[in-house]
Amino acid sequence: MDSLLNEIYSMKSTEIKECEKHLMLGGGTKGIPVMKRGKGVRVFDVDGKAYIDCTSQSWALYLGHANDEMNRILSEHMNNMTHMHQGVHTPVRYYLARLLSRIAPPGLNRVSFTVGGGPAIEAAMKICMKNTVDSRDFLCLYDSYHGTTLGVLGATWTSTRSSGKLMGGSRYLHLTKPFIRVPNPNCYRCFLGLKKESCGMECAKILELTIQKGVAGNPAGLILEPVQASGGQVILPAGYIKEARKICDRYSVPLIFDEIQTYCRIGQFFAADYFNVSPDIIVLGKALGGGLPLAGIIISDKLRGFEQDGEELHTFANNSLSQVAAIKLIKMMEDGILENTRNMGGYIRKGLESLQKIYPQMGDIRQAGLHIGVEFVKDPVTKEPAVEEASDIRKEMMKMGIILGMGGPCKQVLKIKPPLIINRQECDEVLDKLSETLKVVF
Ligand SMILES: Cc1ncc(COP(=O)(O)O)c(C=O)c1O
Repeated sequence: MDSLLNEIYSMKSTEIKECEKHLMLGGGTKGIPVMKRGKGVRVFDVDGKAYIDCTSQSWALYLGHANDEMNRILSEHMNNMTHMHQGVHTPVRYYLARLLSRIAPPGLNRVSFTVGGGPAIEAAMKICMKNTVDSRDFLCLYDSYHGTTLGVLGATWTSTRSSGKLMGGSRYLHLTKPFIRVPNPNCYRCFLGLKKESCGMECAKILELTIQKGVAGNPAGLILEPVQASGGQVILPAGYIKEARKICDRYSVPLIFDEIQTYCRIGQFFAADYFNVSPDIIVLGKALGGGLPLAGIIISDKLRGFEQDGEELHTFANNSLSQVAAIKLIKMMEDGILENTRNMGGYIRKGLESLQKIYPQMGDIRQAGLHIGVEFVKDPVTKEPAVEEASDIRKEMMKMGIILGMGGPCKQVLKIKPPLIINRQECDEVLDKLSETLKVVF
């Protein structure tokens, strides 16, 4: 092993502790063990303890950790090229742009790359602004999460009272862009107190009314996550998305799908395939780069795109290594991983449903591919969020070697979002440990 790597890897816990004072973190959970390496769906901490990683590290590692096939192609490409200026063309970027256009819904054929999810949403917003007149305001949904850069923080629930109190995002209001929020179709907790069988989709009517009466000028765009991830794994009903599409068409409002978390994870490349509704712009990030930093947008042929006059320029927007990883990921998805995502997602769902029969505190199970959440409640009738219990389950699971995520502004939704390569035995391990944990907590 390289002697420098060896020096880094062999840091003792006391030395690691000493380094803590040099770091500032603006997010993430406290008390997570220090991790040293990963392989497949597992990560290993500095003491050698193994964990199944149901967070895929910010939901970004679809192939899990240290994937051999991916690493082989990356090492080979790394010896040729890593970073290039955005203005310099390469076969790799052309290949990826064509491939993304090929798998994207018909009519979405132009791609622009950037460096992270927040900047990619901002790129989508710029495209909207170029393509609308008399418009300034963007619409987004309650409990949405679109990033923490100043251009999008105003659309993220951490700048609201969604959690019951104002959070970090609300500290920068003098600089963040205000967004106009409309109710999200969270059918388990309908804000209008309606039942989904008979609601008449009032929330979609509010969207239309807001466009008519709540926006100065024309809206510049509507941004939505087809599955609201951070907001609690809320899968938007297909009917709502279809209605939103119609409303956007009626008022010439560009529709943006934030697919930063849904891309591939829902068992299809795009939410457009899953819900059968096409947006005008798709935003990608997180796992797009096969585990390396990459984000981007794919836009409709109807929209005017970027011009090369400095309106969208980022130093690391042309990272060739990330682009090769993105290409390889798509090929691997087509070669069976998308199918595995659907199969394993369904398998975990069945396991969760069996547990729900014993533990009605598992109020709502929400699954699309391996985009899975379980909302915990104290009582299935009152639906009072079981915040402490959900937190205890997460801690207990961590002790048992399973890392879970936590979602929903009140943190009552456990997220099970493992790498898409997870197999049946590994799913069983997660479900068995969850069963043991539920016995302890309830
Ligand atoms: C749906 C969604 N949009 C946008 C973002 C922001 O991406 P990034 O953290 O890469 O800026 C995230 C990050 O969690 C996300 O989940």
